[in-house]
Amino acid sequence: MGARLVVLASGEGTNLQALIDATQDSGYGATIVAVGSDKPGIRALDRARAGRIPAFTVSLADYPNRAEWDEALTQACRRYSPDLIVLAGFMKLVGRGFLESFPGRCVNTHPALLPSFPGTHGVRDALNHGVKIAGCTVLVVDDGVDTGPIVAQACVPVHDDDDEKALHERIKVAERALLVATVGRMVRDGWSVDGRKVRIGSCQM
Ligand code: GRF
Repeated sequence: MGARLVVLASGEGTNLQALIDATQDSGYGATIVAVGSDKPGIRALDRARAGRIPAFTVSLADYPNRAEWDEALTQACRRYSPDLIVLAGFMKLVGRGFLESFPGRCVNTHPALLPSFPGTHGVRDALNHGVKIAGCTVLVVDDGVDTGPIVAQACVPVHDDDDEKALHERIKVAERALLVATVGRMVRDGWSVDGRKVRIGSCQM
């Protein structure tokens, strides 16, 4: 079975799909044991269903406050004993309680070259800034907004006639490949986090 992955998503789920496809190969080193979302009825949940992967939804609207939502999300993930949690287009910030339950074991994918352009409008902000190279980052999640230690990055060119959608689509092609490659290396070779430095290989998970 390899490492146990829980993937959290909020929308289309193309990054999730890339992981579902990769994990069909037993040599990849991981199995997606559950998919979680923060809202019902999203395409990512359809993809989980099609892949016969258990799925759960923990909606913020169903809880009196953020802390209780965070605790419910933590419990929902913990039920699947994940080795690694992958935020793949999960559009909510997870809380301190969540991160303390899975220390160094939660990664996120962001559609910009961090530390530039964190937050929900990374692609738009990069485009408005006039960058010529854009890209994506896989990072270990900490309690800031896209501030955690960087695991891997990939870049793509920005074209003169790009709008946000066109640039985001180009980034997402690179992002899916980066996420699959990085998660695969992490689960197969192990990783360590020392301050801001993430090292893959020659270490235990
Ligand atoms: C990705 O670009 C992710 O980095 C961003 O939203 C997008 C989600 O895409 N936060 P998808 O749902 O995986 O297709």
